[in-house]
Amino acid sequence: MNPNKPDQKPGEDPIRAHVFDGIAEYDRRLPNWWLITLYASIVFAIIYWMATQHFARANDETRLAAEMQRIEAEKIASSATALDDATLWKMSRNPVFVEAGAATFQSTCASCHNAALTGGIGPNLVDDVWIHGSNPADILKTVNEGVLAKGMPAWGPVLGGKKVSEVAAFILSKHAAP
Ligand code: HEC
Repeated sequence: MNPNKPDQKPGEDPIRAHVFDGIAEYDRRLPNWWLITLYASIVFAIIYWMATQHFARANDETRLAAEMQRIEAEKIASSATALDDATLWKMSRNPVFVEAGAATFQSTCASCHNAALTGGIGPNLVDDVWIHGSNPADILKTVNEGVLAKGMPAWGPVLGGKKVSEVAAFILSKHAAP
């Protein structure tokens, strides 16, 4: 018998001092299975929130940006206007065109201009020195028509307009837009 708690029988949990409406409560420790469930749900909630709200949201933003670039690329590609300088600069900031142009460049142009565009048989395309003009329209014309006397083939008939504009966008992507 506990002298401070005369109601407590030996081997039984202590009883709390208060009584409401004649009802007394045992003063029991919360069972371990209950505590473990509580702490595990707190940990799970944090991990779940990070996975679904934090990381997934950042992922949404990059996916949205890529989708907007794809839509812009479709718009440029389908617009009836000729490829003026402004359009070519815009293409040069859009990875859809630049990546396609990079692939064409590596397969078709790198043998003469070097994979890093720094020149070889053909001149450097990333410095500020241009033989045939630095405007997007100039570059497009050089690639399309070539400089046959100097060993630069005409790529328009070989690659077609779409690939030539992509490869021009790729070259321009290495230069600061005005
Ligand atoms: C067989 C070698 C060869 C290949 C392949 C080649 N080029 Fe050239 N390119 C040249 C040469 C040589 C010149 C320099 C022409 C001159 O001196 O007038 C040149 C010049 C250029 C210029 C003008 C540079 C300036 O300073 O004005 C551009 C732009 C260019 N090439 C882009 C390309 C692209 C894009 C491709 C691939 C589609 C390509 N070239 C493939 C040899 C090549």
